[in-house]
Amino acid sequence: MDLHKRLKHFINAFTVVTLSIWWPNIGVAAVSCLAAINPTIQRQIEKNNFVINRSLDDYAQNLMQMPTAFYMLLAAIPQGAIVVDFGAGQAKALKQLVEYYPQVALGVAISHTKPENFESPAHLGERFDYIDGGYVEDLMAAGKLDHLKGRVKFATDFFGAFSYTHDLPRVIQTYVDLLEVHGRIFVHFSEKKNIVKKGNQELSLIDWLSKIPGIIVRRQSDKYAGHGSFYIQKVNEQVMVPQNLKIKKIEAASGVPVRFYDMN
Ligand SMILES: C[S@@+](CC[C@H](N)C(=O)[O-])C[C@H]1O[C@@H](n2cnc3c(N)ncnc32)[C@H](O)[C@@H]1O
Repeated sequence: MDLHKRLKHFINAFTVVTLSIWWPNIGVAAVSCLAAINPTIQRQIEKNNFVINRSLDDYAQNLMQMPTAFYMLLAAIPQGAIVVDFGAGQAKALKQLVEYYPQVALGVAISHTKPENFESPAHLGERFDYIDGGYVEDLMAAGKLDHLKGRVKFATDFFGAFSYTHDLPRVIQTYVDLLEVHGRIFVHFSEKKNIVKKGNQELSLIDWLSKIPGIIVRRQSDKYAGHGSFYIQKVNEQVMVPQNLKIKKIEAASGVPVRFYDMN
């Protein structure tokens, strides 16, 4: 570890310990803050140092048990619908979706970082948009997604914000606020890399989501050990995502990070 990194770690540790002694609650806030700026994950996200070019076929193979079911769902998207991919990377899948399904009025790719070599799909004209420059939860707070509120019919998150955020309740709140009533988001994530504890009991993130009033959560596929897919359907106009899930620690492994949560 170089001197700069050592110094940074020392200052972080010193701040947390000092704050914890002076005011235990601030200590807790500071620990989550440390998780928030976990340097490896930050670097990964900023440099797009992971797979960012999955195709629509990759999404279809994994988001539902049967790819044909996924394609049937896309074919049934009604005229004028808005579709969003959260954590879109190169947005290869979304570009294909908008191209193949002409009834989709607008496809919006949202990502922390737009890849430098991103190829803008000129042939899709105003039917495609890419919003970047921040975490989706912060873009929402800054009002940059207001035009999509309550208007998204169909959405996806394939190892996107759901897998990388340090503030999952805020990401889920963003997703449900953007969905229209009966709209759905399909998520693919690594279940084994998300460890949720309530006391001594271990839960799945899907269990936590399933308890939120106003949404329906359905597991779709766990074809590959530990990798799961599910969808969330918004059924009430107003959905309040409880803030009872706090991240304790993030370990940056290869691929998606391992996250440890406490639920109260
Ligand atoms: C592993 S890549 C997946 C890209 C794409 N879904 C695919 O499968 O090809 C993760 C993507 O999520 C984005 N990302 C991660 N956390 C995010 C957040 N909180 N808000 C917005 N984008 C995020 C990254 O910038 C990156 O584009």
